[in-house]
Amino acid sequence: MENTTTENKKRVFSAIKPTGNPTLGNYLGAMKYWGGMADEYDCLYSVADLHAITVSIEPKELRENTKRLFALLIAVGIDPEKNILFVQSHVRSHAEMCWLLNNYTMFGEARRMTQFKEKSEKAPENVNVGLFDYPVLMAADILLYQTDIVPVGDDQVQHVELCRNIAERFNNRYSPTFAMPKAQVTTTGARIYSLLDPTAKMGKSDSNDGGSVYILDTPDDIMRKFKRAVTDCDTKVKAAKDKPGITNLLNIYAAATGVTVAQAEKEFENSDYASFKMRVGEAAVEVLRPVREKYEALRRDDNALLEIMKSGAEKAERAARKTLEKAYKKIGFVRL
Ligand code: TRP
Repeated sequence: MENTTTENKKRVFSAIKPTGNPTLGNYLGAMKYWGGMADEYDCLYSVADLHAITVSIEPKELRENTKRLFALLIAVGIDPEKNILFVQSHVRSHAEMCWLLNNYTMFGEARRMTQFKEKSEKAPENVNVGLFDYPVLMAADILLYQTDIVPVGDDQVQHVELCRNIAERFNNRYSPTFAMPKAQVTTTGARIYSLLDPTAKMGKSDSNDGGSVYILDTPDDIMRKFKRAVTDCDTKVKAAKDKPGITNLLNIYAAATGVTVAQAEKEFENSDYASFKMRVGEAAVEVLRPVREKYEALRRDDNALLEIMKSGAEKAERAARKTLEKAYKKIGFVRL
């Protein structure tokens, strides 16, 4: 399929919902690499605010989270000049394309989505149609930009598969319209677990805040959380299957400072757990410091932030419109 890029770079699209609070784990595992992808790929990143309302969220929270995530994406290195960075609801084509694609998505295939089933069980009082439609909106996000690669967590692979089915169905029914996207499960970064339960992922919406270090935590908060991090019995700073706490801390240290786990083990050969935890905490503080500072600078001027959003939305809308118009025409809509 043709690509709307001029340089023949492959196109990357990804989005994150403005729910919860991004963690050190999100940063070291994925976000830290996003800025650098622009050298090799033509990248679009979106704050998926339309997706955020499929679960119950307060207006104030949606508003603040959207601005916070947008600024944070810039702060972690996504340069809005080199990438197209935008808020999903600012580009109307997403909602429009979602409506079109709804008609090429079968009820049965949408009903099979694991995430829909899980979220329905978690909040049985709010199993709304938007939640059911979530993966179709996600397909619209992806297909509007003739996307080749979709970096996602492994929980989203099934949604990208559904997106491919929808694209194929549409392309077969009319003629080639959408590029066929591929999910790329992020494996570059470190896998970081909760500081209090090192067998569970460091979650961005965990109620138990002590287990998650957030990107925007103050240095004091970060140090406090590392001090309370669970370790293991025995006293050796060594990674091992039966030492999930220490292994997690070693992974965090290695990812934050750029050494290997083996080098870190060597460095802490003669350390006790308490001083090791302090050093990991300091490494986390240092790796997050420039991100937080950049973030704070961006949040000092709301109007400037809105201007960046506006310019990203304009670029995205131009690219999205092309595909949307094509789809309208193929289906048989009268266009003005
Ligand atoms: N559903 C994705 C998640 O929860 C976020 C998302 C929305 C997304 N639209 C997308 C990811 C399009 C990739 C492509 O992580």
